[in-house]
Amino acid sequence: MDFPFAGVTPNELSFAARDERYRRLHEWGEPSYLHPSGLRMIWKYDDVRTVLEAVLRGVSTANSLDPLVGYSRIATTASAIPPFLRHLLPPPAKATANLTDLGLHKRVRDTMSGADGHFTIPAGQRHAREAAMSAHFHAALDELDPGAELDVTALSIAYAARVTGEAVGLPPQSWPNVAIWSSAQSGLLGRRMHGRELGAAVDALGWLFTISARTVAHGSGFARRLREAELPRRVAISAMANSLAAGVHTVSGTIQQGLQRLLSAPDRAWWSLLADPHQAGSVAIKLMHLDPGLVAWKRRADEAITLPSGTTLPPGPILALFAAANRDTAAFPDLWNLHGKGKLPLTFGIGRHVCPGKQLATLAIAVFLRELHAQIPHAELIPTIGRRRPDLLFSGADIAITT
Ligand code: HEM
Repeated sequence: MDFPFAGVTPNELSFAARDERYRRLHEWGEPSYLHPSGLRMIWKYDDVRTVLEAVLRGVSTANSLDPLVGYSRIATTASAIPPFLRHLLPPPAKATANLTDLGLHKRVRDTMSGADGHFTIPAGQRHAREAAMSAHFHAALDELDPGAELDVTALSIAYAARVTGEAVGLPPQSWPNVAIWSSAQSGLLGRRMHGRELGAAVDALGWLFTISARTVAHGSGFARRLREAELPRRVAISAMANSLAAGVHTVSGTIQQGLQRLLSAPDRAWWSLLADPHQAGSVAIKLMHLDPGLVAWKRRADEAITLPSGTTLPPGPILALFAAANRDTAAFPDLWNLHGKGKLPLTFGIGRHVCPGKQLATLAIAVFLRELHAQIPHAELIPTIGRRRPDLLFSGADIAITT
């Protein structure tokens, strides 16, 4: 039997094929696998949790935002050099997932999360935020102007770009570009890009940082928070750029894959529950558990390490497959029950780098699904053709529905 993810990534599979491969993965005889990308994959719940937490000696977060192809490929790709020189020199500072200076990281985090963090939604503001998100849903829907067929993939990307653009305080005229820039950063992390495609991604990434620099200098909201924290300017710019890039394909990919599952089930029981405001949140949480738009994250073993489970990892880069860990029945014996008990799903990471956009993303996904259900309760999936690209980190689905 071949290793289930040796030659295919979750992004290329429909939900049913992914379910099957995750099941086989947890039957694999070894606890790790050296993938052809050079990343060592791990998937057991306890191992993924320890490695993401990164407090064990020898586990580093320093490579978490490194491009999959490595910096030397970028430096030697003709089309990537001009945008790199124009926008990305000096290279972006480390500010979030890859920052190893704990004191500085805490100062960045304090602007984003915690009781007073910019991405935190206080209980008293929840209804207003939900209303703003449903307005984003309808604005994105109006722009698409669907005929008999609605491209939910495009809709979910436009929606997530608006929600994220607004959350970080980017001017509305830049929101449509957020999706393009974010796709560049996401693609560089998990895809093997070459030639012109790599050049275009570096150009878009460059724009992400250039616009972030302008916003940090003059913007309100999150930009002001970053300025008031008196962070080094380059760190504030990276915090802005990384937050902008982080929200779009994570949220939209979850919606796409989740919807494929909801509309394919013979009884469509979870889809029907979206009509009930008290249940819609539980459906969104379950979909983030099963079908997150981000499936894995990088770490590095700086030396040979032995995890508490006994799993040993040699020095080198690690890919922690947290979406696979979410399918570990040792942690989630009741996986397919909507309200099944179990450990904390690892969708948003854990520990000091845990996703500060967690609450925002959860609400955004629930609002989108609820609005779509209210708009088109009898939606049917329209079969799409074409294969999605290999991507080790991000995962989505091409979804069109009847209107
Ligand atoms: C379904 C949606 C999302 C998923 C699955 C997700 C997942 C994650 C994960 C796994 C991490 C941990 C990285 C690490 O441990 O190194 C993370 C970090 C982060 N996320 Fe999210 N995220 C989502 C949405 C968002 C949104 C909407 C935002 C902001 C608007 C955001 C901003 C960030 C930032 C800034 C970090 C870095 C935090 C740090 O290193 O301290 N994320 N996210």
